[in-house]
Amino acid sequence: MFSHAPVMLNESIDSLVLNKSGAYLDCTFGLGGHSKEILKRLNSEGTLESIDQDQRVIKYAEKIKDPRFHFEYSKFSKIGELFSNRKFDGILFDLGVSSLQLDDASRGFSFQKNGKLDMRMDQNDKISAFEWINKAHEKEIADIFYSLGEERKSRLFAKRIVEKRRNKLIESTGELAEVTYVGKKYRKSKKHPATNIFRAIRIFINNEFDEIKKALHASIDLLQDKGRLVVISFHSMEDRIVKNFLKGRLENQENTNAIKIIGKIIKPSLDEINLNSRSRSAILRVGEKISG
Ligand SMILES: C[S@@+](CC[C@H](N)C(=O)[O-])C[C@H]1O[C@@H](n2cnc3c(N)ncnc32)[C@H](O)[C@@H]1O
Repeated sequence: MFSHAPVMLNESIDSLVLNKSGAYLDCTFGLGGHSKEILKRLNSEGTLESIDQDQRVIKYAEKIKDPRFHFEYSKFSKIGELFSNRKFDGILFDLGVSSLQLDDASRGFSFQKNGKLDMRMDQNDKISAFEWINKAHEKEIADIFYSLGEERKSRLFAKRIVEKRRNKLIESTGELAEVTYVGKKYRKSKKHPATNIFRAIRIFINNEFDEIKKALHASIDLLQDKGRLVVISFHSMEDRIVKNFLKGRLENQENTNAIKIIGKIIKPSLDEINLNSRSRSAILRVGEKISG
């Protein structure tokens, strides 16, 4: 069993749940930390729909025996179709990976824990990190490292990957991380040199940015007037998408005046960061659907 400390729990749910008998949608159930808090704040008329693309969270959702709650295994890019006849008082996204995914070496997300390369949040997706890294062209790998990981040594690391896999397929997270060890071994106090390329591969394999953009676009029609959109993101590229959307500037955004920004960005307190270091890069943004 895994545990997950929900990030900015009170800050996010305070901004989300303004109507105790309202209908809410949690697009990233994970281990259910935020979902459980939403249920606590609702009265007997309130309802909560939660979704997640990771089948392994179903057993955690099934533990919530509450008639107001319903879980669906789905990607959040599908919320427009899934809930086409519904309106919500609030929609929550707590982006990124859960502890269930990161702490389980067999899911192949982490350079801290050696395991078979995989990185699919949805095990039914076709291409894993193992397949991609062993088949993609060197240029494609370098481009992904640069564009999604902002990795300055993208070309060098891509070249090393192609050289390494000529002798033996790159099967584990440890073998992949090794390509980033240049010169002296990295110091523990510094950012691990594989951080950027692991993030880039994860974003690519899970099509994360397209997923977020589609779901944000769909959320407009699903919100009631004055309904809240609350998003927690974990790195600047992800946050930029959310910020642009709230400002009506995301590419292909149709109704650019449908949502307004509420308050300033919120970051975790020092106490939270000390208790849960994974929260340190989190940024919370809140929007509200404009009436009419
Ligand atoms: C940071 S965790 C959420 C943790 C949760 N709020 C909690 O308190 O336990 C992010 C979750 O979102 C899910 N997720 C990420 N992208 C998704 C997508 N495109 N569609 C559906 N679920 C997604 C992941 O599988 C993961 O379980």
